[in-house]
Amino acid sequence: MAGRIPQQFIDELLARVDLVELINARVNLRKAGREYSACCPFHDEKTPSFSVSPHKQFYHCFGCGAHGNAIGFLMAYDNLNFVEAVEDLAARSGLPIPREMTESAGDSHQALYTVLQQAADYFKRQLRSHPRAPQAVAYLKGRGVSGEIAARFDIGYAPPGWDNLIQELGGGKTQEALLLEAGLAIRKEGGGCYDRFRERIMFPIRDGRGRVIGFGGRVMGGDAQGSANAAGGTTPRTEEVEQRRERLPTTPGAAGPKYLNSPETPVFHKGSELYGLYQARQAVRNLERLLVVEGYMDVVALAQFDVPYVVATLGTATTREHLERLFRSVSDIVFCFDGDRAGRAAAWRALENALPVIREGRQIRYMFLPEGEDPDTIIRKEGRAGFEARIAKAVTFSDFFFEGLAAQVDMGSVDGQAQLVELARPYLSKITAGVLRYMMMARLAEIVRMTPDRLEVLLEGGSPRQGQSARKPSRPAAYKALTPVRKAIILLLNRPDLAAQAGDPGRFATLEAPGVGLLIELLDLLQEKPHLNCAAILAQQRDSADWHHLGKLAQLPLEIPADGLEREFLDVLRHLEKMSNEQTLDALLAKSGRQTLTEQEKAELQQRLKLKQGSN
Ligand code: GTP
Ligand code: MN
Repeated sequence: MAGRIPQQFIDELLARVDLVELINARVNLRKAGREYSACCPFHDEKTPSFSVSPHKQFYHCFGCGAHGNAIGFLMAYDNLNFVEAVEDLAARSGLPIPREMTESAGDSHQALYTVLQQAADYFKRQLRSHPRAPQAVAYLKGRGVSGEIAARFDIGYAPPGWDNLIQELGGGKTQEALLLEAGLAIRKEGGGCYDRFRERIMFPIRDGRGRVIGFGGRVMGGDAQGSANAAGGTTPRTEEVEQRRERLPTTPGAAGPKYLNSPETPVFHKGSELYGLYQARQAVRNLERLLVVEGYMDVVALAQFDVPYVVATLGTATTREHLERLFRSVSDIVFCFDGDRAGRAAAWRALENALPVIREGRQIRYMFLPEGEDPDTIIRKEGRAGFEARIAKAVTFSDFFFEGLAAQVDMGSVDGQAQLVELARPYLSKITAGVLRYMMMARLAEIVRMTPDRLEVLLEGGSPRQGQSARKPSRPAAYKALTPVRKAIILLLNRPDLAAQAGDPGRFATLEAPGVGLLIELLDLLQEKPHLNCAAILAQQRDSADWHHLGKLAQLPLEIPADGLEREFLDVLRHLEKMSNEQTLDALLAKSGRQTLTEQEKAELQQRLKLKQGSN
């Protein structure tokens, strides 16, 4: 494990980089007053609401709420994790990264990346120069893979034999250990090791930064060649494939499954990596949509036919990590599955994994191909136009969801409709509360011909099957519908600098309204530490029970233009003052009816009355 990167270093790094320059290299920024603006790279929009402040070194989208510093931007835009983003910035600034632990494991990762890249180079060279290369080239040609696209994806060839790569890169125990750790070699029982990939077409898998982290290798033959588990001529599907144990074949050829992937290694995690993401980013400057397909060959074929916004999972079902990663790049995801039963089942699994991730502003759609076809075959028949016409007809998340559920019950009967509600309940409860969930509920209500209120009661009532687990479905949160206290909090999360204009937070202490304590706490914090941005605010570990609701509020879209936020904030504060004034006034008046007020109270009453008249 790499040691922790000291906070001090991160601060220094952030002080050195220029966020405007960093973003401008990726998104065309225009100067607008003191800030820079652009159409937001994180959601689809026609008028710019993405703004970068050179002064705050902070970016913010008033449309989708995306915000952060240079590290956050690289994480979101280049799809890096925190450490990768820091590494990237450090490299730009020419600063070496200090680690808090003495032994730096960053170096051993570096060694892994290096050996994986060397392997990729080697496989690529073999496709040109190995005596058996013509066979591999013929296979690729036979499948219609152009030389240009093979080069773009760095497709290579692992020749037959037990130790080609080991001979090429090996030499000594350390190198052998590295090859084992990188998943390129397999340990022999009697000692020593042998090449994992033999006589296969090699697809290097790159991470978001383009580093080779693993490989997929395909046999050069039919679907189920040499595969012990693929009896019956069917293609082994993902789950069973994952469970297939590595066998030691008796011949040096490419016996074993159709595809062989690198095992999990310190740099390769099948459950979160996507084949083709790096290439898609390279090919499309403003990536807005990503198509998720099942196979390596599908990614390559689609890219060749000018549909470059495509990725594939690595023979696993689509996980939540995949989805989070995809949504960090685009807001529109289309899943492409085979039209057969297995394809539908895989699509349903993908839907289940998407429930916790989907929300308004994030679109997921599903397209199904005719039986017996995959994207590779379809694009060759129909070309880009035909294929994109199919994408355009993809079904929405909620259509697919309700059709899937409705197919399980008899919708003609009242019983069936009740069953549908029961079936939907656990799924709906997994969707984050918000507009999307509300719309799904409304849709369900419509299908079972119930008023949304009646349905809500039914869903809340708990069922024998689900117990009390169903959560109360919440109304869509709209900024306008919020209480002034919540409004003030949200505005502060979006523009922490406004706290400076709020005056003494203590004057709200007597105000009786939910969330006032939180608002005061937030104002105190920001007046003391004006440089905190939203991310830093949310990262504060506070005891107050309300604090963890902040994250939710931070996500709520503001329906106010950027230049109107300050006025809105001041308006809200005035409103709160008025509320506070009236509450105190009411209390004093009520008291004066029961007993004589002290001199101090009388003076206060006078002052409050004057205030009230002044504000009316
Ligand atoms: P082609 O048969 O070359 O067209 O490949 P494909 O990508 O169309 O294959 P298929 O649709 O059969 O499988 C989709 C994906 O599942 C592949 O790209 C692999 O990631 C994975 N997969 C398929 N077969 C195997 C296998 O035998 N072992 C492993 N580990 N993965 C497999
Ligand atoms: Mn295929």
